[in-house]
Amino acid sequence: KQKIFKKYFKKKLRKKNRIKNMIKKGIILAGGMGTRMSPLTKAVNKQLLPLYDKPLIFYPLSVLMLAGIKKILIIVNKGQLNQFRKILPERNNLGLSIEYKEQPKPGGLPQAFLIGEKFIGKDSISLILGDNFFYGQSLTKILKKNINMKSGAKIFIHPVKNPHLYGVATLNNNKKVITLVEKPKKTKSNFAVTGLYFFDNKVIDLTKKLKPSKRGELEIIDLLNFYKRKNKLKAEFIGRGGSWLDTGNISDFYDASNFISAIENRQGLKIACLEEIALNNNWINNQQLRNAINFYGKCDYSKYLKSLIN
Ligand code: G1P
Repeated sequence: KQKIFKKYFKKKLRKKNRIKNMIKKGIILAGGMGTRMSPLTKAVNKQLLPLYDKPLIFYPLSVLMLAGIKKILIIVNKGQLNQFRKILPERNNLGLSIEYKEQPKPGGLPQAFLIGEKFIGKDSISLILGDNFFYGQSLTKILKKNINMKSGAKIFIHPVKNPHLYGVATLNNNKKVITLVEKPKKTKSNFAVTGLYFFDNKVIDLTKKLKPSKRGELEIIDLLNFYKRKNKLKAEFIGRGGSWLDTGNISDFYDASNFISAIENRQGLKIACLEEIALNNNWINNQQLRNAINFYGKCDYSKYLKSLIN
């Protein structure tokens, strides 16, 4: 009997620890001037432009939600808060706690941890860039597998044809990161570091130690290299069965739109339907779905939401 009890409590403790170590907060960095997409981005933030049938920011937000993250901080450019609030209000129908902070001026990705210091508190944190598009069945599995993190930092790697446009990692056979360089002229591998990162709470202090690079910004790669030097950096592959698409320039943006259109129209299912993910996570019920339908008004998106009721 005692043995059975011990086993039972051990299992319970493991589960408790798993939940305790889960990353529960996420930051979406949705600043930036979107210069490469001007004039489209002159009046509207890039993350609010339509990627096929939804604003671009729905896609990175859906990734955090698929990972089970409910507490979200969205960092936006100064003066653009109300644009975002209109589509993702603090009082939302998604079961999410959404907060906003403004970025006075673009100063590099790690700035997110300084702007978000109070939001992060004593917890671990995930960061996703507001223009990153991820897709694939493997993705949810990978997120769920990696969301429990006691300490260190985690990056997600994806093979690309043009690695020189990104942070580039080389790894050994045990997935250990050997080198990590930001936009190298000569690339040593085709493994790009995607715009999704998991960090322990040390990230705040480490960011404070960072010095601006030659281009005058704090660099995420420098931050990751701190962790690497302490053997605290882990990499996970999003292999070829998953997709990580660029939305950096207009042509890439439309390619990504076409990708979404092809899949959605074939399957009759939506990618990054936030309410659907919230419903599947049991964060909302039919009443909130109805509220969401009212919120969006008569449109195809609402029709899709209607089909989810019951
Ligand atoms: C940033 C990071 C880079 C990363 C990329 C992913 O670059 O600095 O390491 O690979 O995001 O989207 P940016 O696109 O902001 O120049």
